[in-house]
Amino acid sequence: MSMLSIRNVVKRYGAVEVIHGLSFDIAAGEFIVFVGPSGCGKSTLLRMIAGLEDFQEGQISIGDRVVNALRPWERDIAMVFQDYALYPHMTVRANICFSLKMAGMDKAAIAKKLEHVAGVLQIGHLLDRKPKELSGGQRQRVAMGRAMVRDPKIFLFDEPLSNLDAKLRVDMRAEIKQLHQRIGSTMVYVTHDQVEAMTLADRIVVLKDGRIEQIGTPAELYNKPKSRFVASFIGSPAMNFVPVTITNGEIQLPGGSRMLSEIRYSGLADFGIRPEHLSVSDSSGPNIAGLISLIEPLGADTLVSVAVGDHKLLARLPGDATPRLGDPIRLSFNPSKSALFAAEGQRL
Ligand SMILES: Nc1ncnc2c1ncn2[C@@H]1O[C@H](COP(=O)(O)OP(=O)(O)OP(=O)(O)O)[C@@H](O)[C@H]1O
Ligand SMILES: [Mg+2]
Repeated sequence: MSMLSIRNVVKRYGAVEVIHGLSFDIAAGEFIVFVGPSGCGKSTLLRMIAGLEDFQEGQISIGDRVVNALRPWERDIAMVFQDYALYPHMTVRANICFSLKMAGMDKAAIAKKLEHVAGVLQIGHLLDRKPKELSGGQRQRVAMGRAMVRDPKIFLFDEPLSNLDAKLRVDMRAEIKQLHQRIGSTMVYVTHDQVEAMTLADRIVVLKDGRIEQIGTPAELYNKPKSRFVASFIGSPAMNFVPVTITNGEIQLPGGSRMLSEIRYSGLADFGIRPEHLSVSDSSGPNIAGLISLIEPLGADTLVSVAVGDHKLLARLPGDATPRLGDPIRLSFNPSKSALFAAEGQRL
């Protein structure tokens, strides 16, 4: 069953249309992540689902109810924002129980809920503290706890980890994933961090300028991006692109060999290959030659920048590789891992 259904939704701020007729469905229990560059409409879409933002056309349903006309608190959703917005003068316990008290739940039932949520989030020892006595990650867990006690149909998250330092982000990312695995709720999560998107999502919705560029599992987006935009957005470090000329399916690679392709296309295109799919050439297969212009050892891998004419390619080589600055290098790859994109960006 679809838990959340978005149908032909259009949003305008005054005369400016920012969401241009979006449609998609989210299944019960799915973890969906919206990604895309700043301003593409991620928060607007999430706020429309939450009921915090009106829209001009289309329909949003949660479960089997059309919620267009429902107020946020009537929608059975819980939202965790970037800044957590805890009540500063209340203890953790009071913050978490506030909505239940307001709803008139009896004391014993509230205590039971609190105990459960505090256990899941491992914040039982923090219940008597005020928000200012907590670390960023602890505050975030309290914000999650406040959302969780309500057993919502859908959790909505808008960049909840963006204020945290790198280590805490990674820890909290794992906690959110575990939480989802434990409670199995439907979750919609906004981020512009593609690593967060890849690691958390069952499916990712890539947005660009208020339109869906592609929806798919992380593996689908990584292996079969439909456009140069998706290819460049998913994967880290990003895919390399170099302009090539294709003549009757024959591709002239820069500074290197020719490659045959089955595509029926002649003209200019972008050749795409991910850094992890390049290796130091030891055969006569398709390859690209250039000069080593930068070496970045990361321990497990070494990132090597290669100048190829006016272009630069990044190759992720094994950590025990011993490249030398300025040396010529020939990079080979498996053609099935490469991609070609037309000038307009769609995959050929
Ligand atoms: N209140 C508003 N009035 C007018 N335009 C707005 C308003 N809020 C957002 N917009 C515009 O709507 C578009 C989408 O904004 P939105 O906040 O959804 O982007 P976002 O994808 O969440 O970006 P970010 O990653 O920066 O948070 C942007 O072009 C933005 O300028
Ligand atoms: Mg936003």
